[in-house]
Amino acid sequence: MSTYIEDNRKVTTHRLVEMKARNEKIAMLTAYDYSMATLIDGAGIDIILVGDSASNVMAGNITTLPITLDQMIYHGKSVVKAVKRALVVVDMPFGTYQGDPLEAYHSAIRIMKETHADCVKLEGGAEIRESIEKILCAGIPVMGHLGLTPQSINKFGTYAVRAKEEAEAKKLIEDAHLLEEIGCFALVLEKIPASLAARVASELTIPVIGIGAGGGVDGQVLVMHDMLGINKGFSPRFLRRYADLSTIIDDAVTHYIQDVKSCDFPNEKEQY
Ligand code: KIV
Repeated sequence: MSTYIEDNRKVTTHRLVEMKARNEKIAMLTAYDYSMATLIDGAGIDIILVGDSASNVMAGNITTLPITLDQMIYHGKSVVKAVKRALVVVDMPFGTYQGDPLEAYHSAIRIMKETHADCVKLEGGAEIRESIEKILCAGIPVMGHLGLTPQSINKFGTYAVRAKEEAEAKKLIEDAHLLEEIGCFALVLEKIPASLAARVASELTIPVIGIGAGGGVDGQVLVMHDMLGINKGFSPRFLRRYADLSTIIDDAVTHYIQDVKSCDFPNEKEQY
């Protein structure tokens, strides 16, 4: 098995800030279940995000909106059981933190108590400031998420690149500074111009992790099903595929079916 582990210690929020300070890039991937989390943690990934993209890739929904707190907790628990080294972040699902700081606090407490994850991630800036502050008051580390925030897809109307216009870019920069000031330990920037993301990363001391935000940030995140080629229907420009698992799985299953139908499987050694 090939791995990339230079330091076996558990990754913490503090270690991520140190990694940024010494210019060491941070590698983050999503996972939603025990088996995949075991593999990617064993390979040496720094952060595992139990993303609400589970709504799309695990549950087959068109958006991230339908996934529930109970479902996110189920995925979070499964991942945490597998992980020895990576920092585990659980996404707070749509409708559990936006309107009411107290509800945000109770949702985050449930995630932490029931999954044993290390921290939570929320989408948005100034408009959810009070919710983030309330969660931080409980000692729960928060990762921010700006740019293309998929929980707001019905407001945006499209998954196109965000913050290309000056006004939206200005608000994003202000929100990024606000999130750092109130105490977020890291920030995800999704699908924004590379020059804007690089500027934000250079102005903040907390790590900035990009997805479709260019190489000038402190780390990268991809959805595991996309980068492993399980989810072939999704191919945005920012995605690099590191494997073609859909072809491998299709070949293996076709081969298995042929062997069963032709009575080649099981053979004498494969029975009792
Ligand atoms: O839910 C998710 O997978 C995410 C990433 C795209 C950053 O939020």
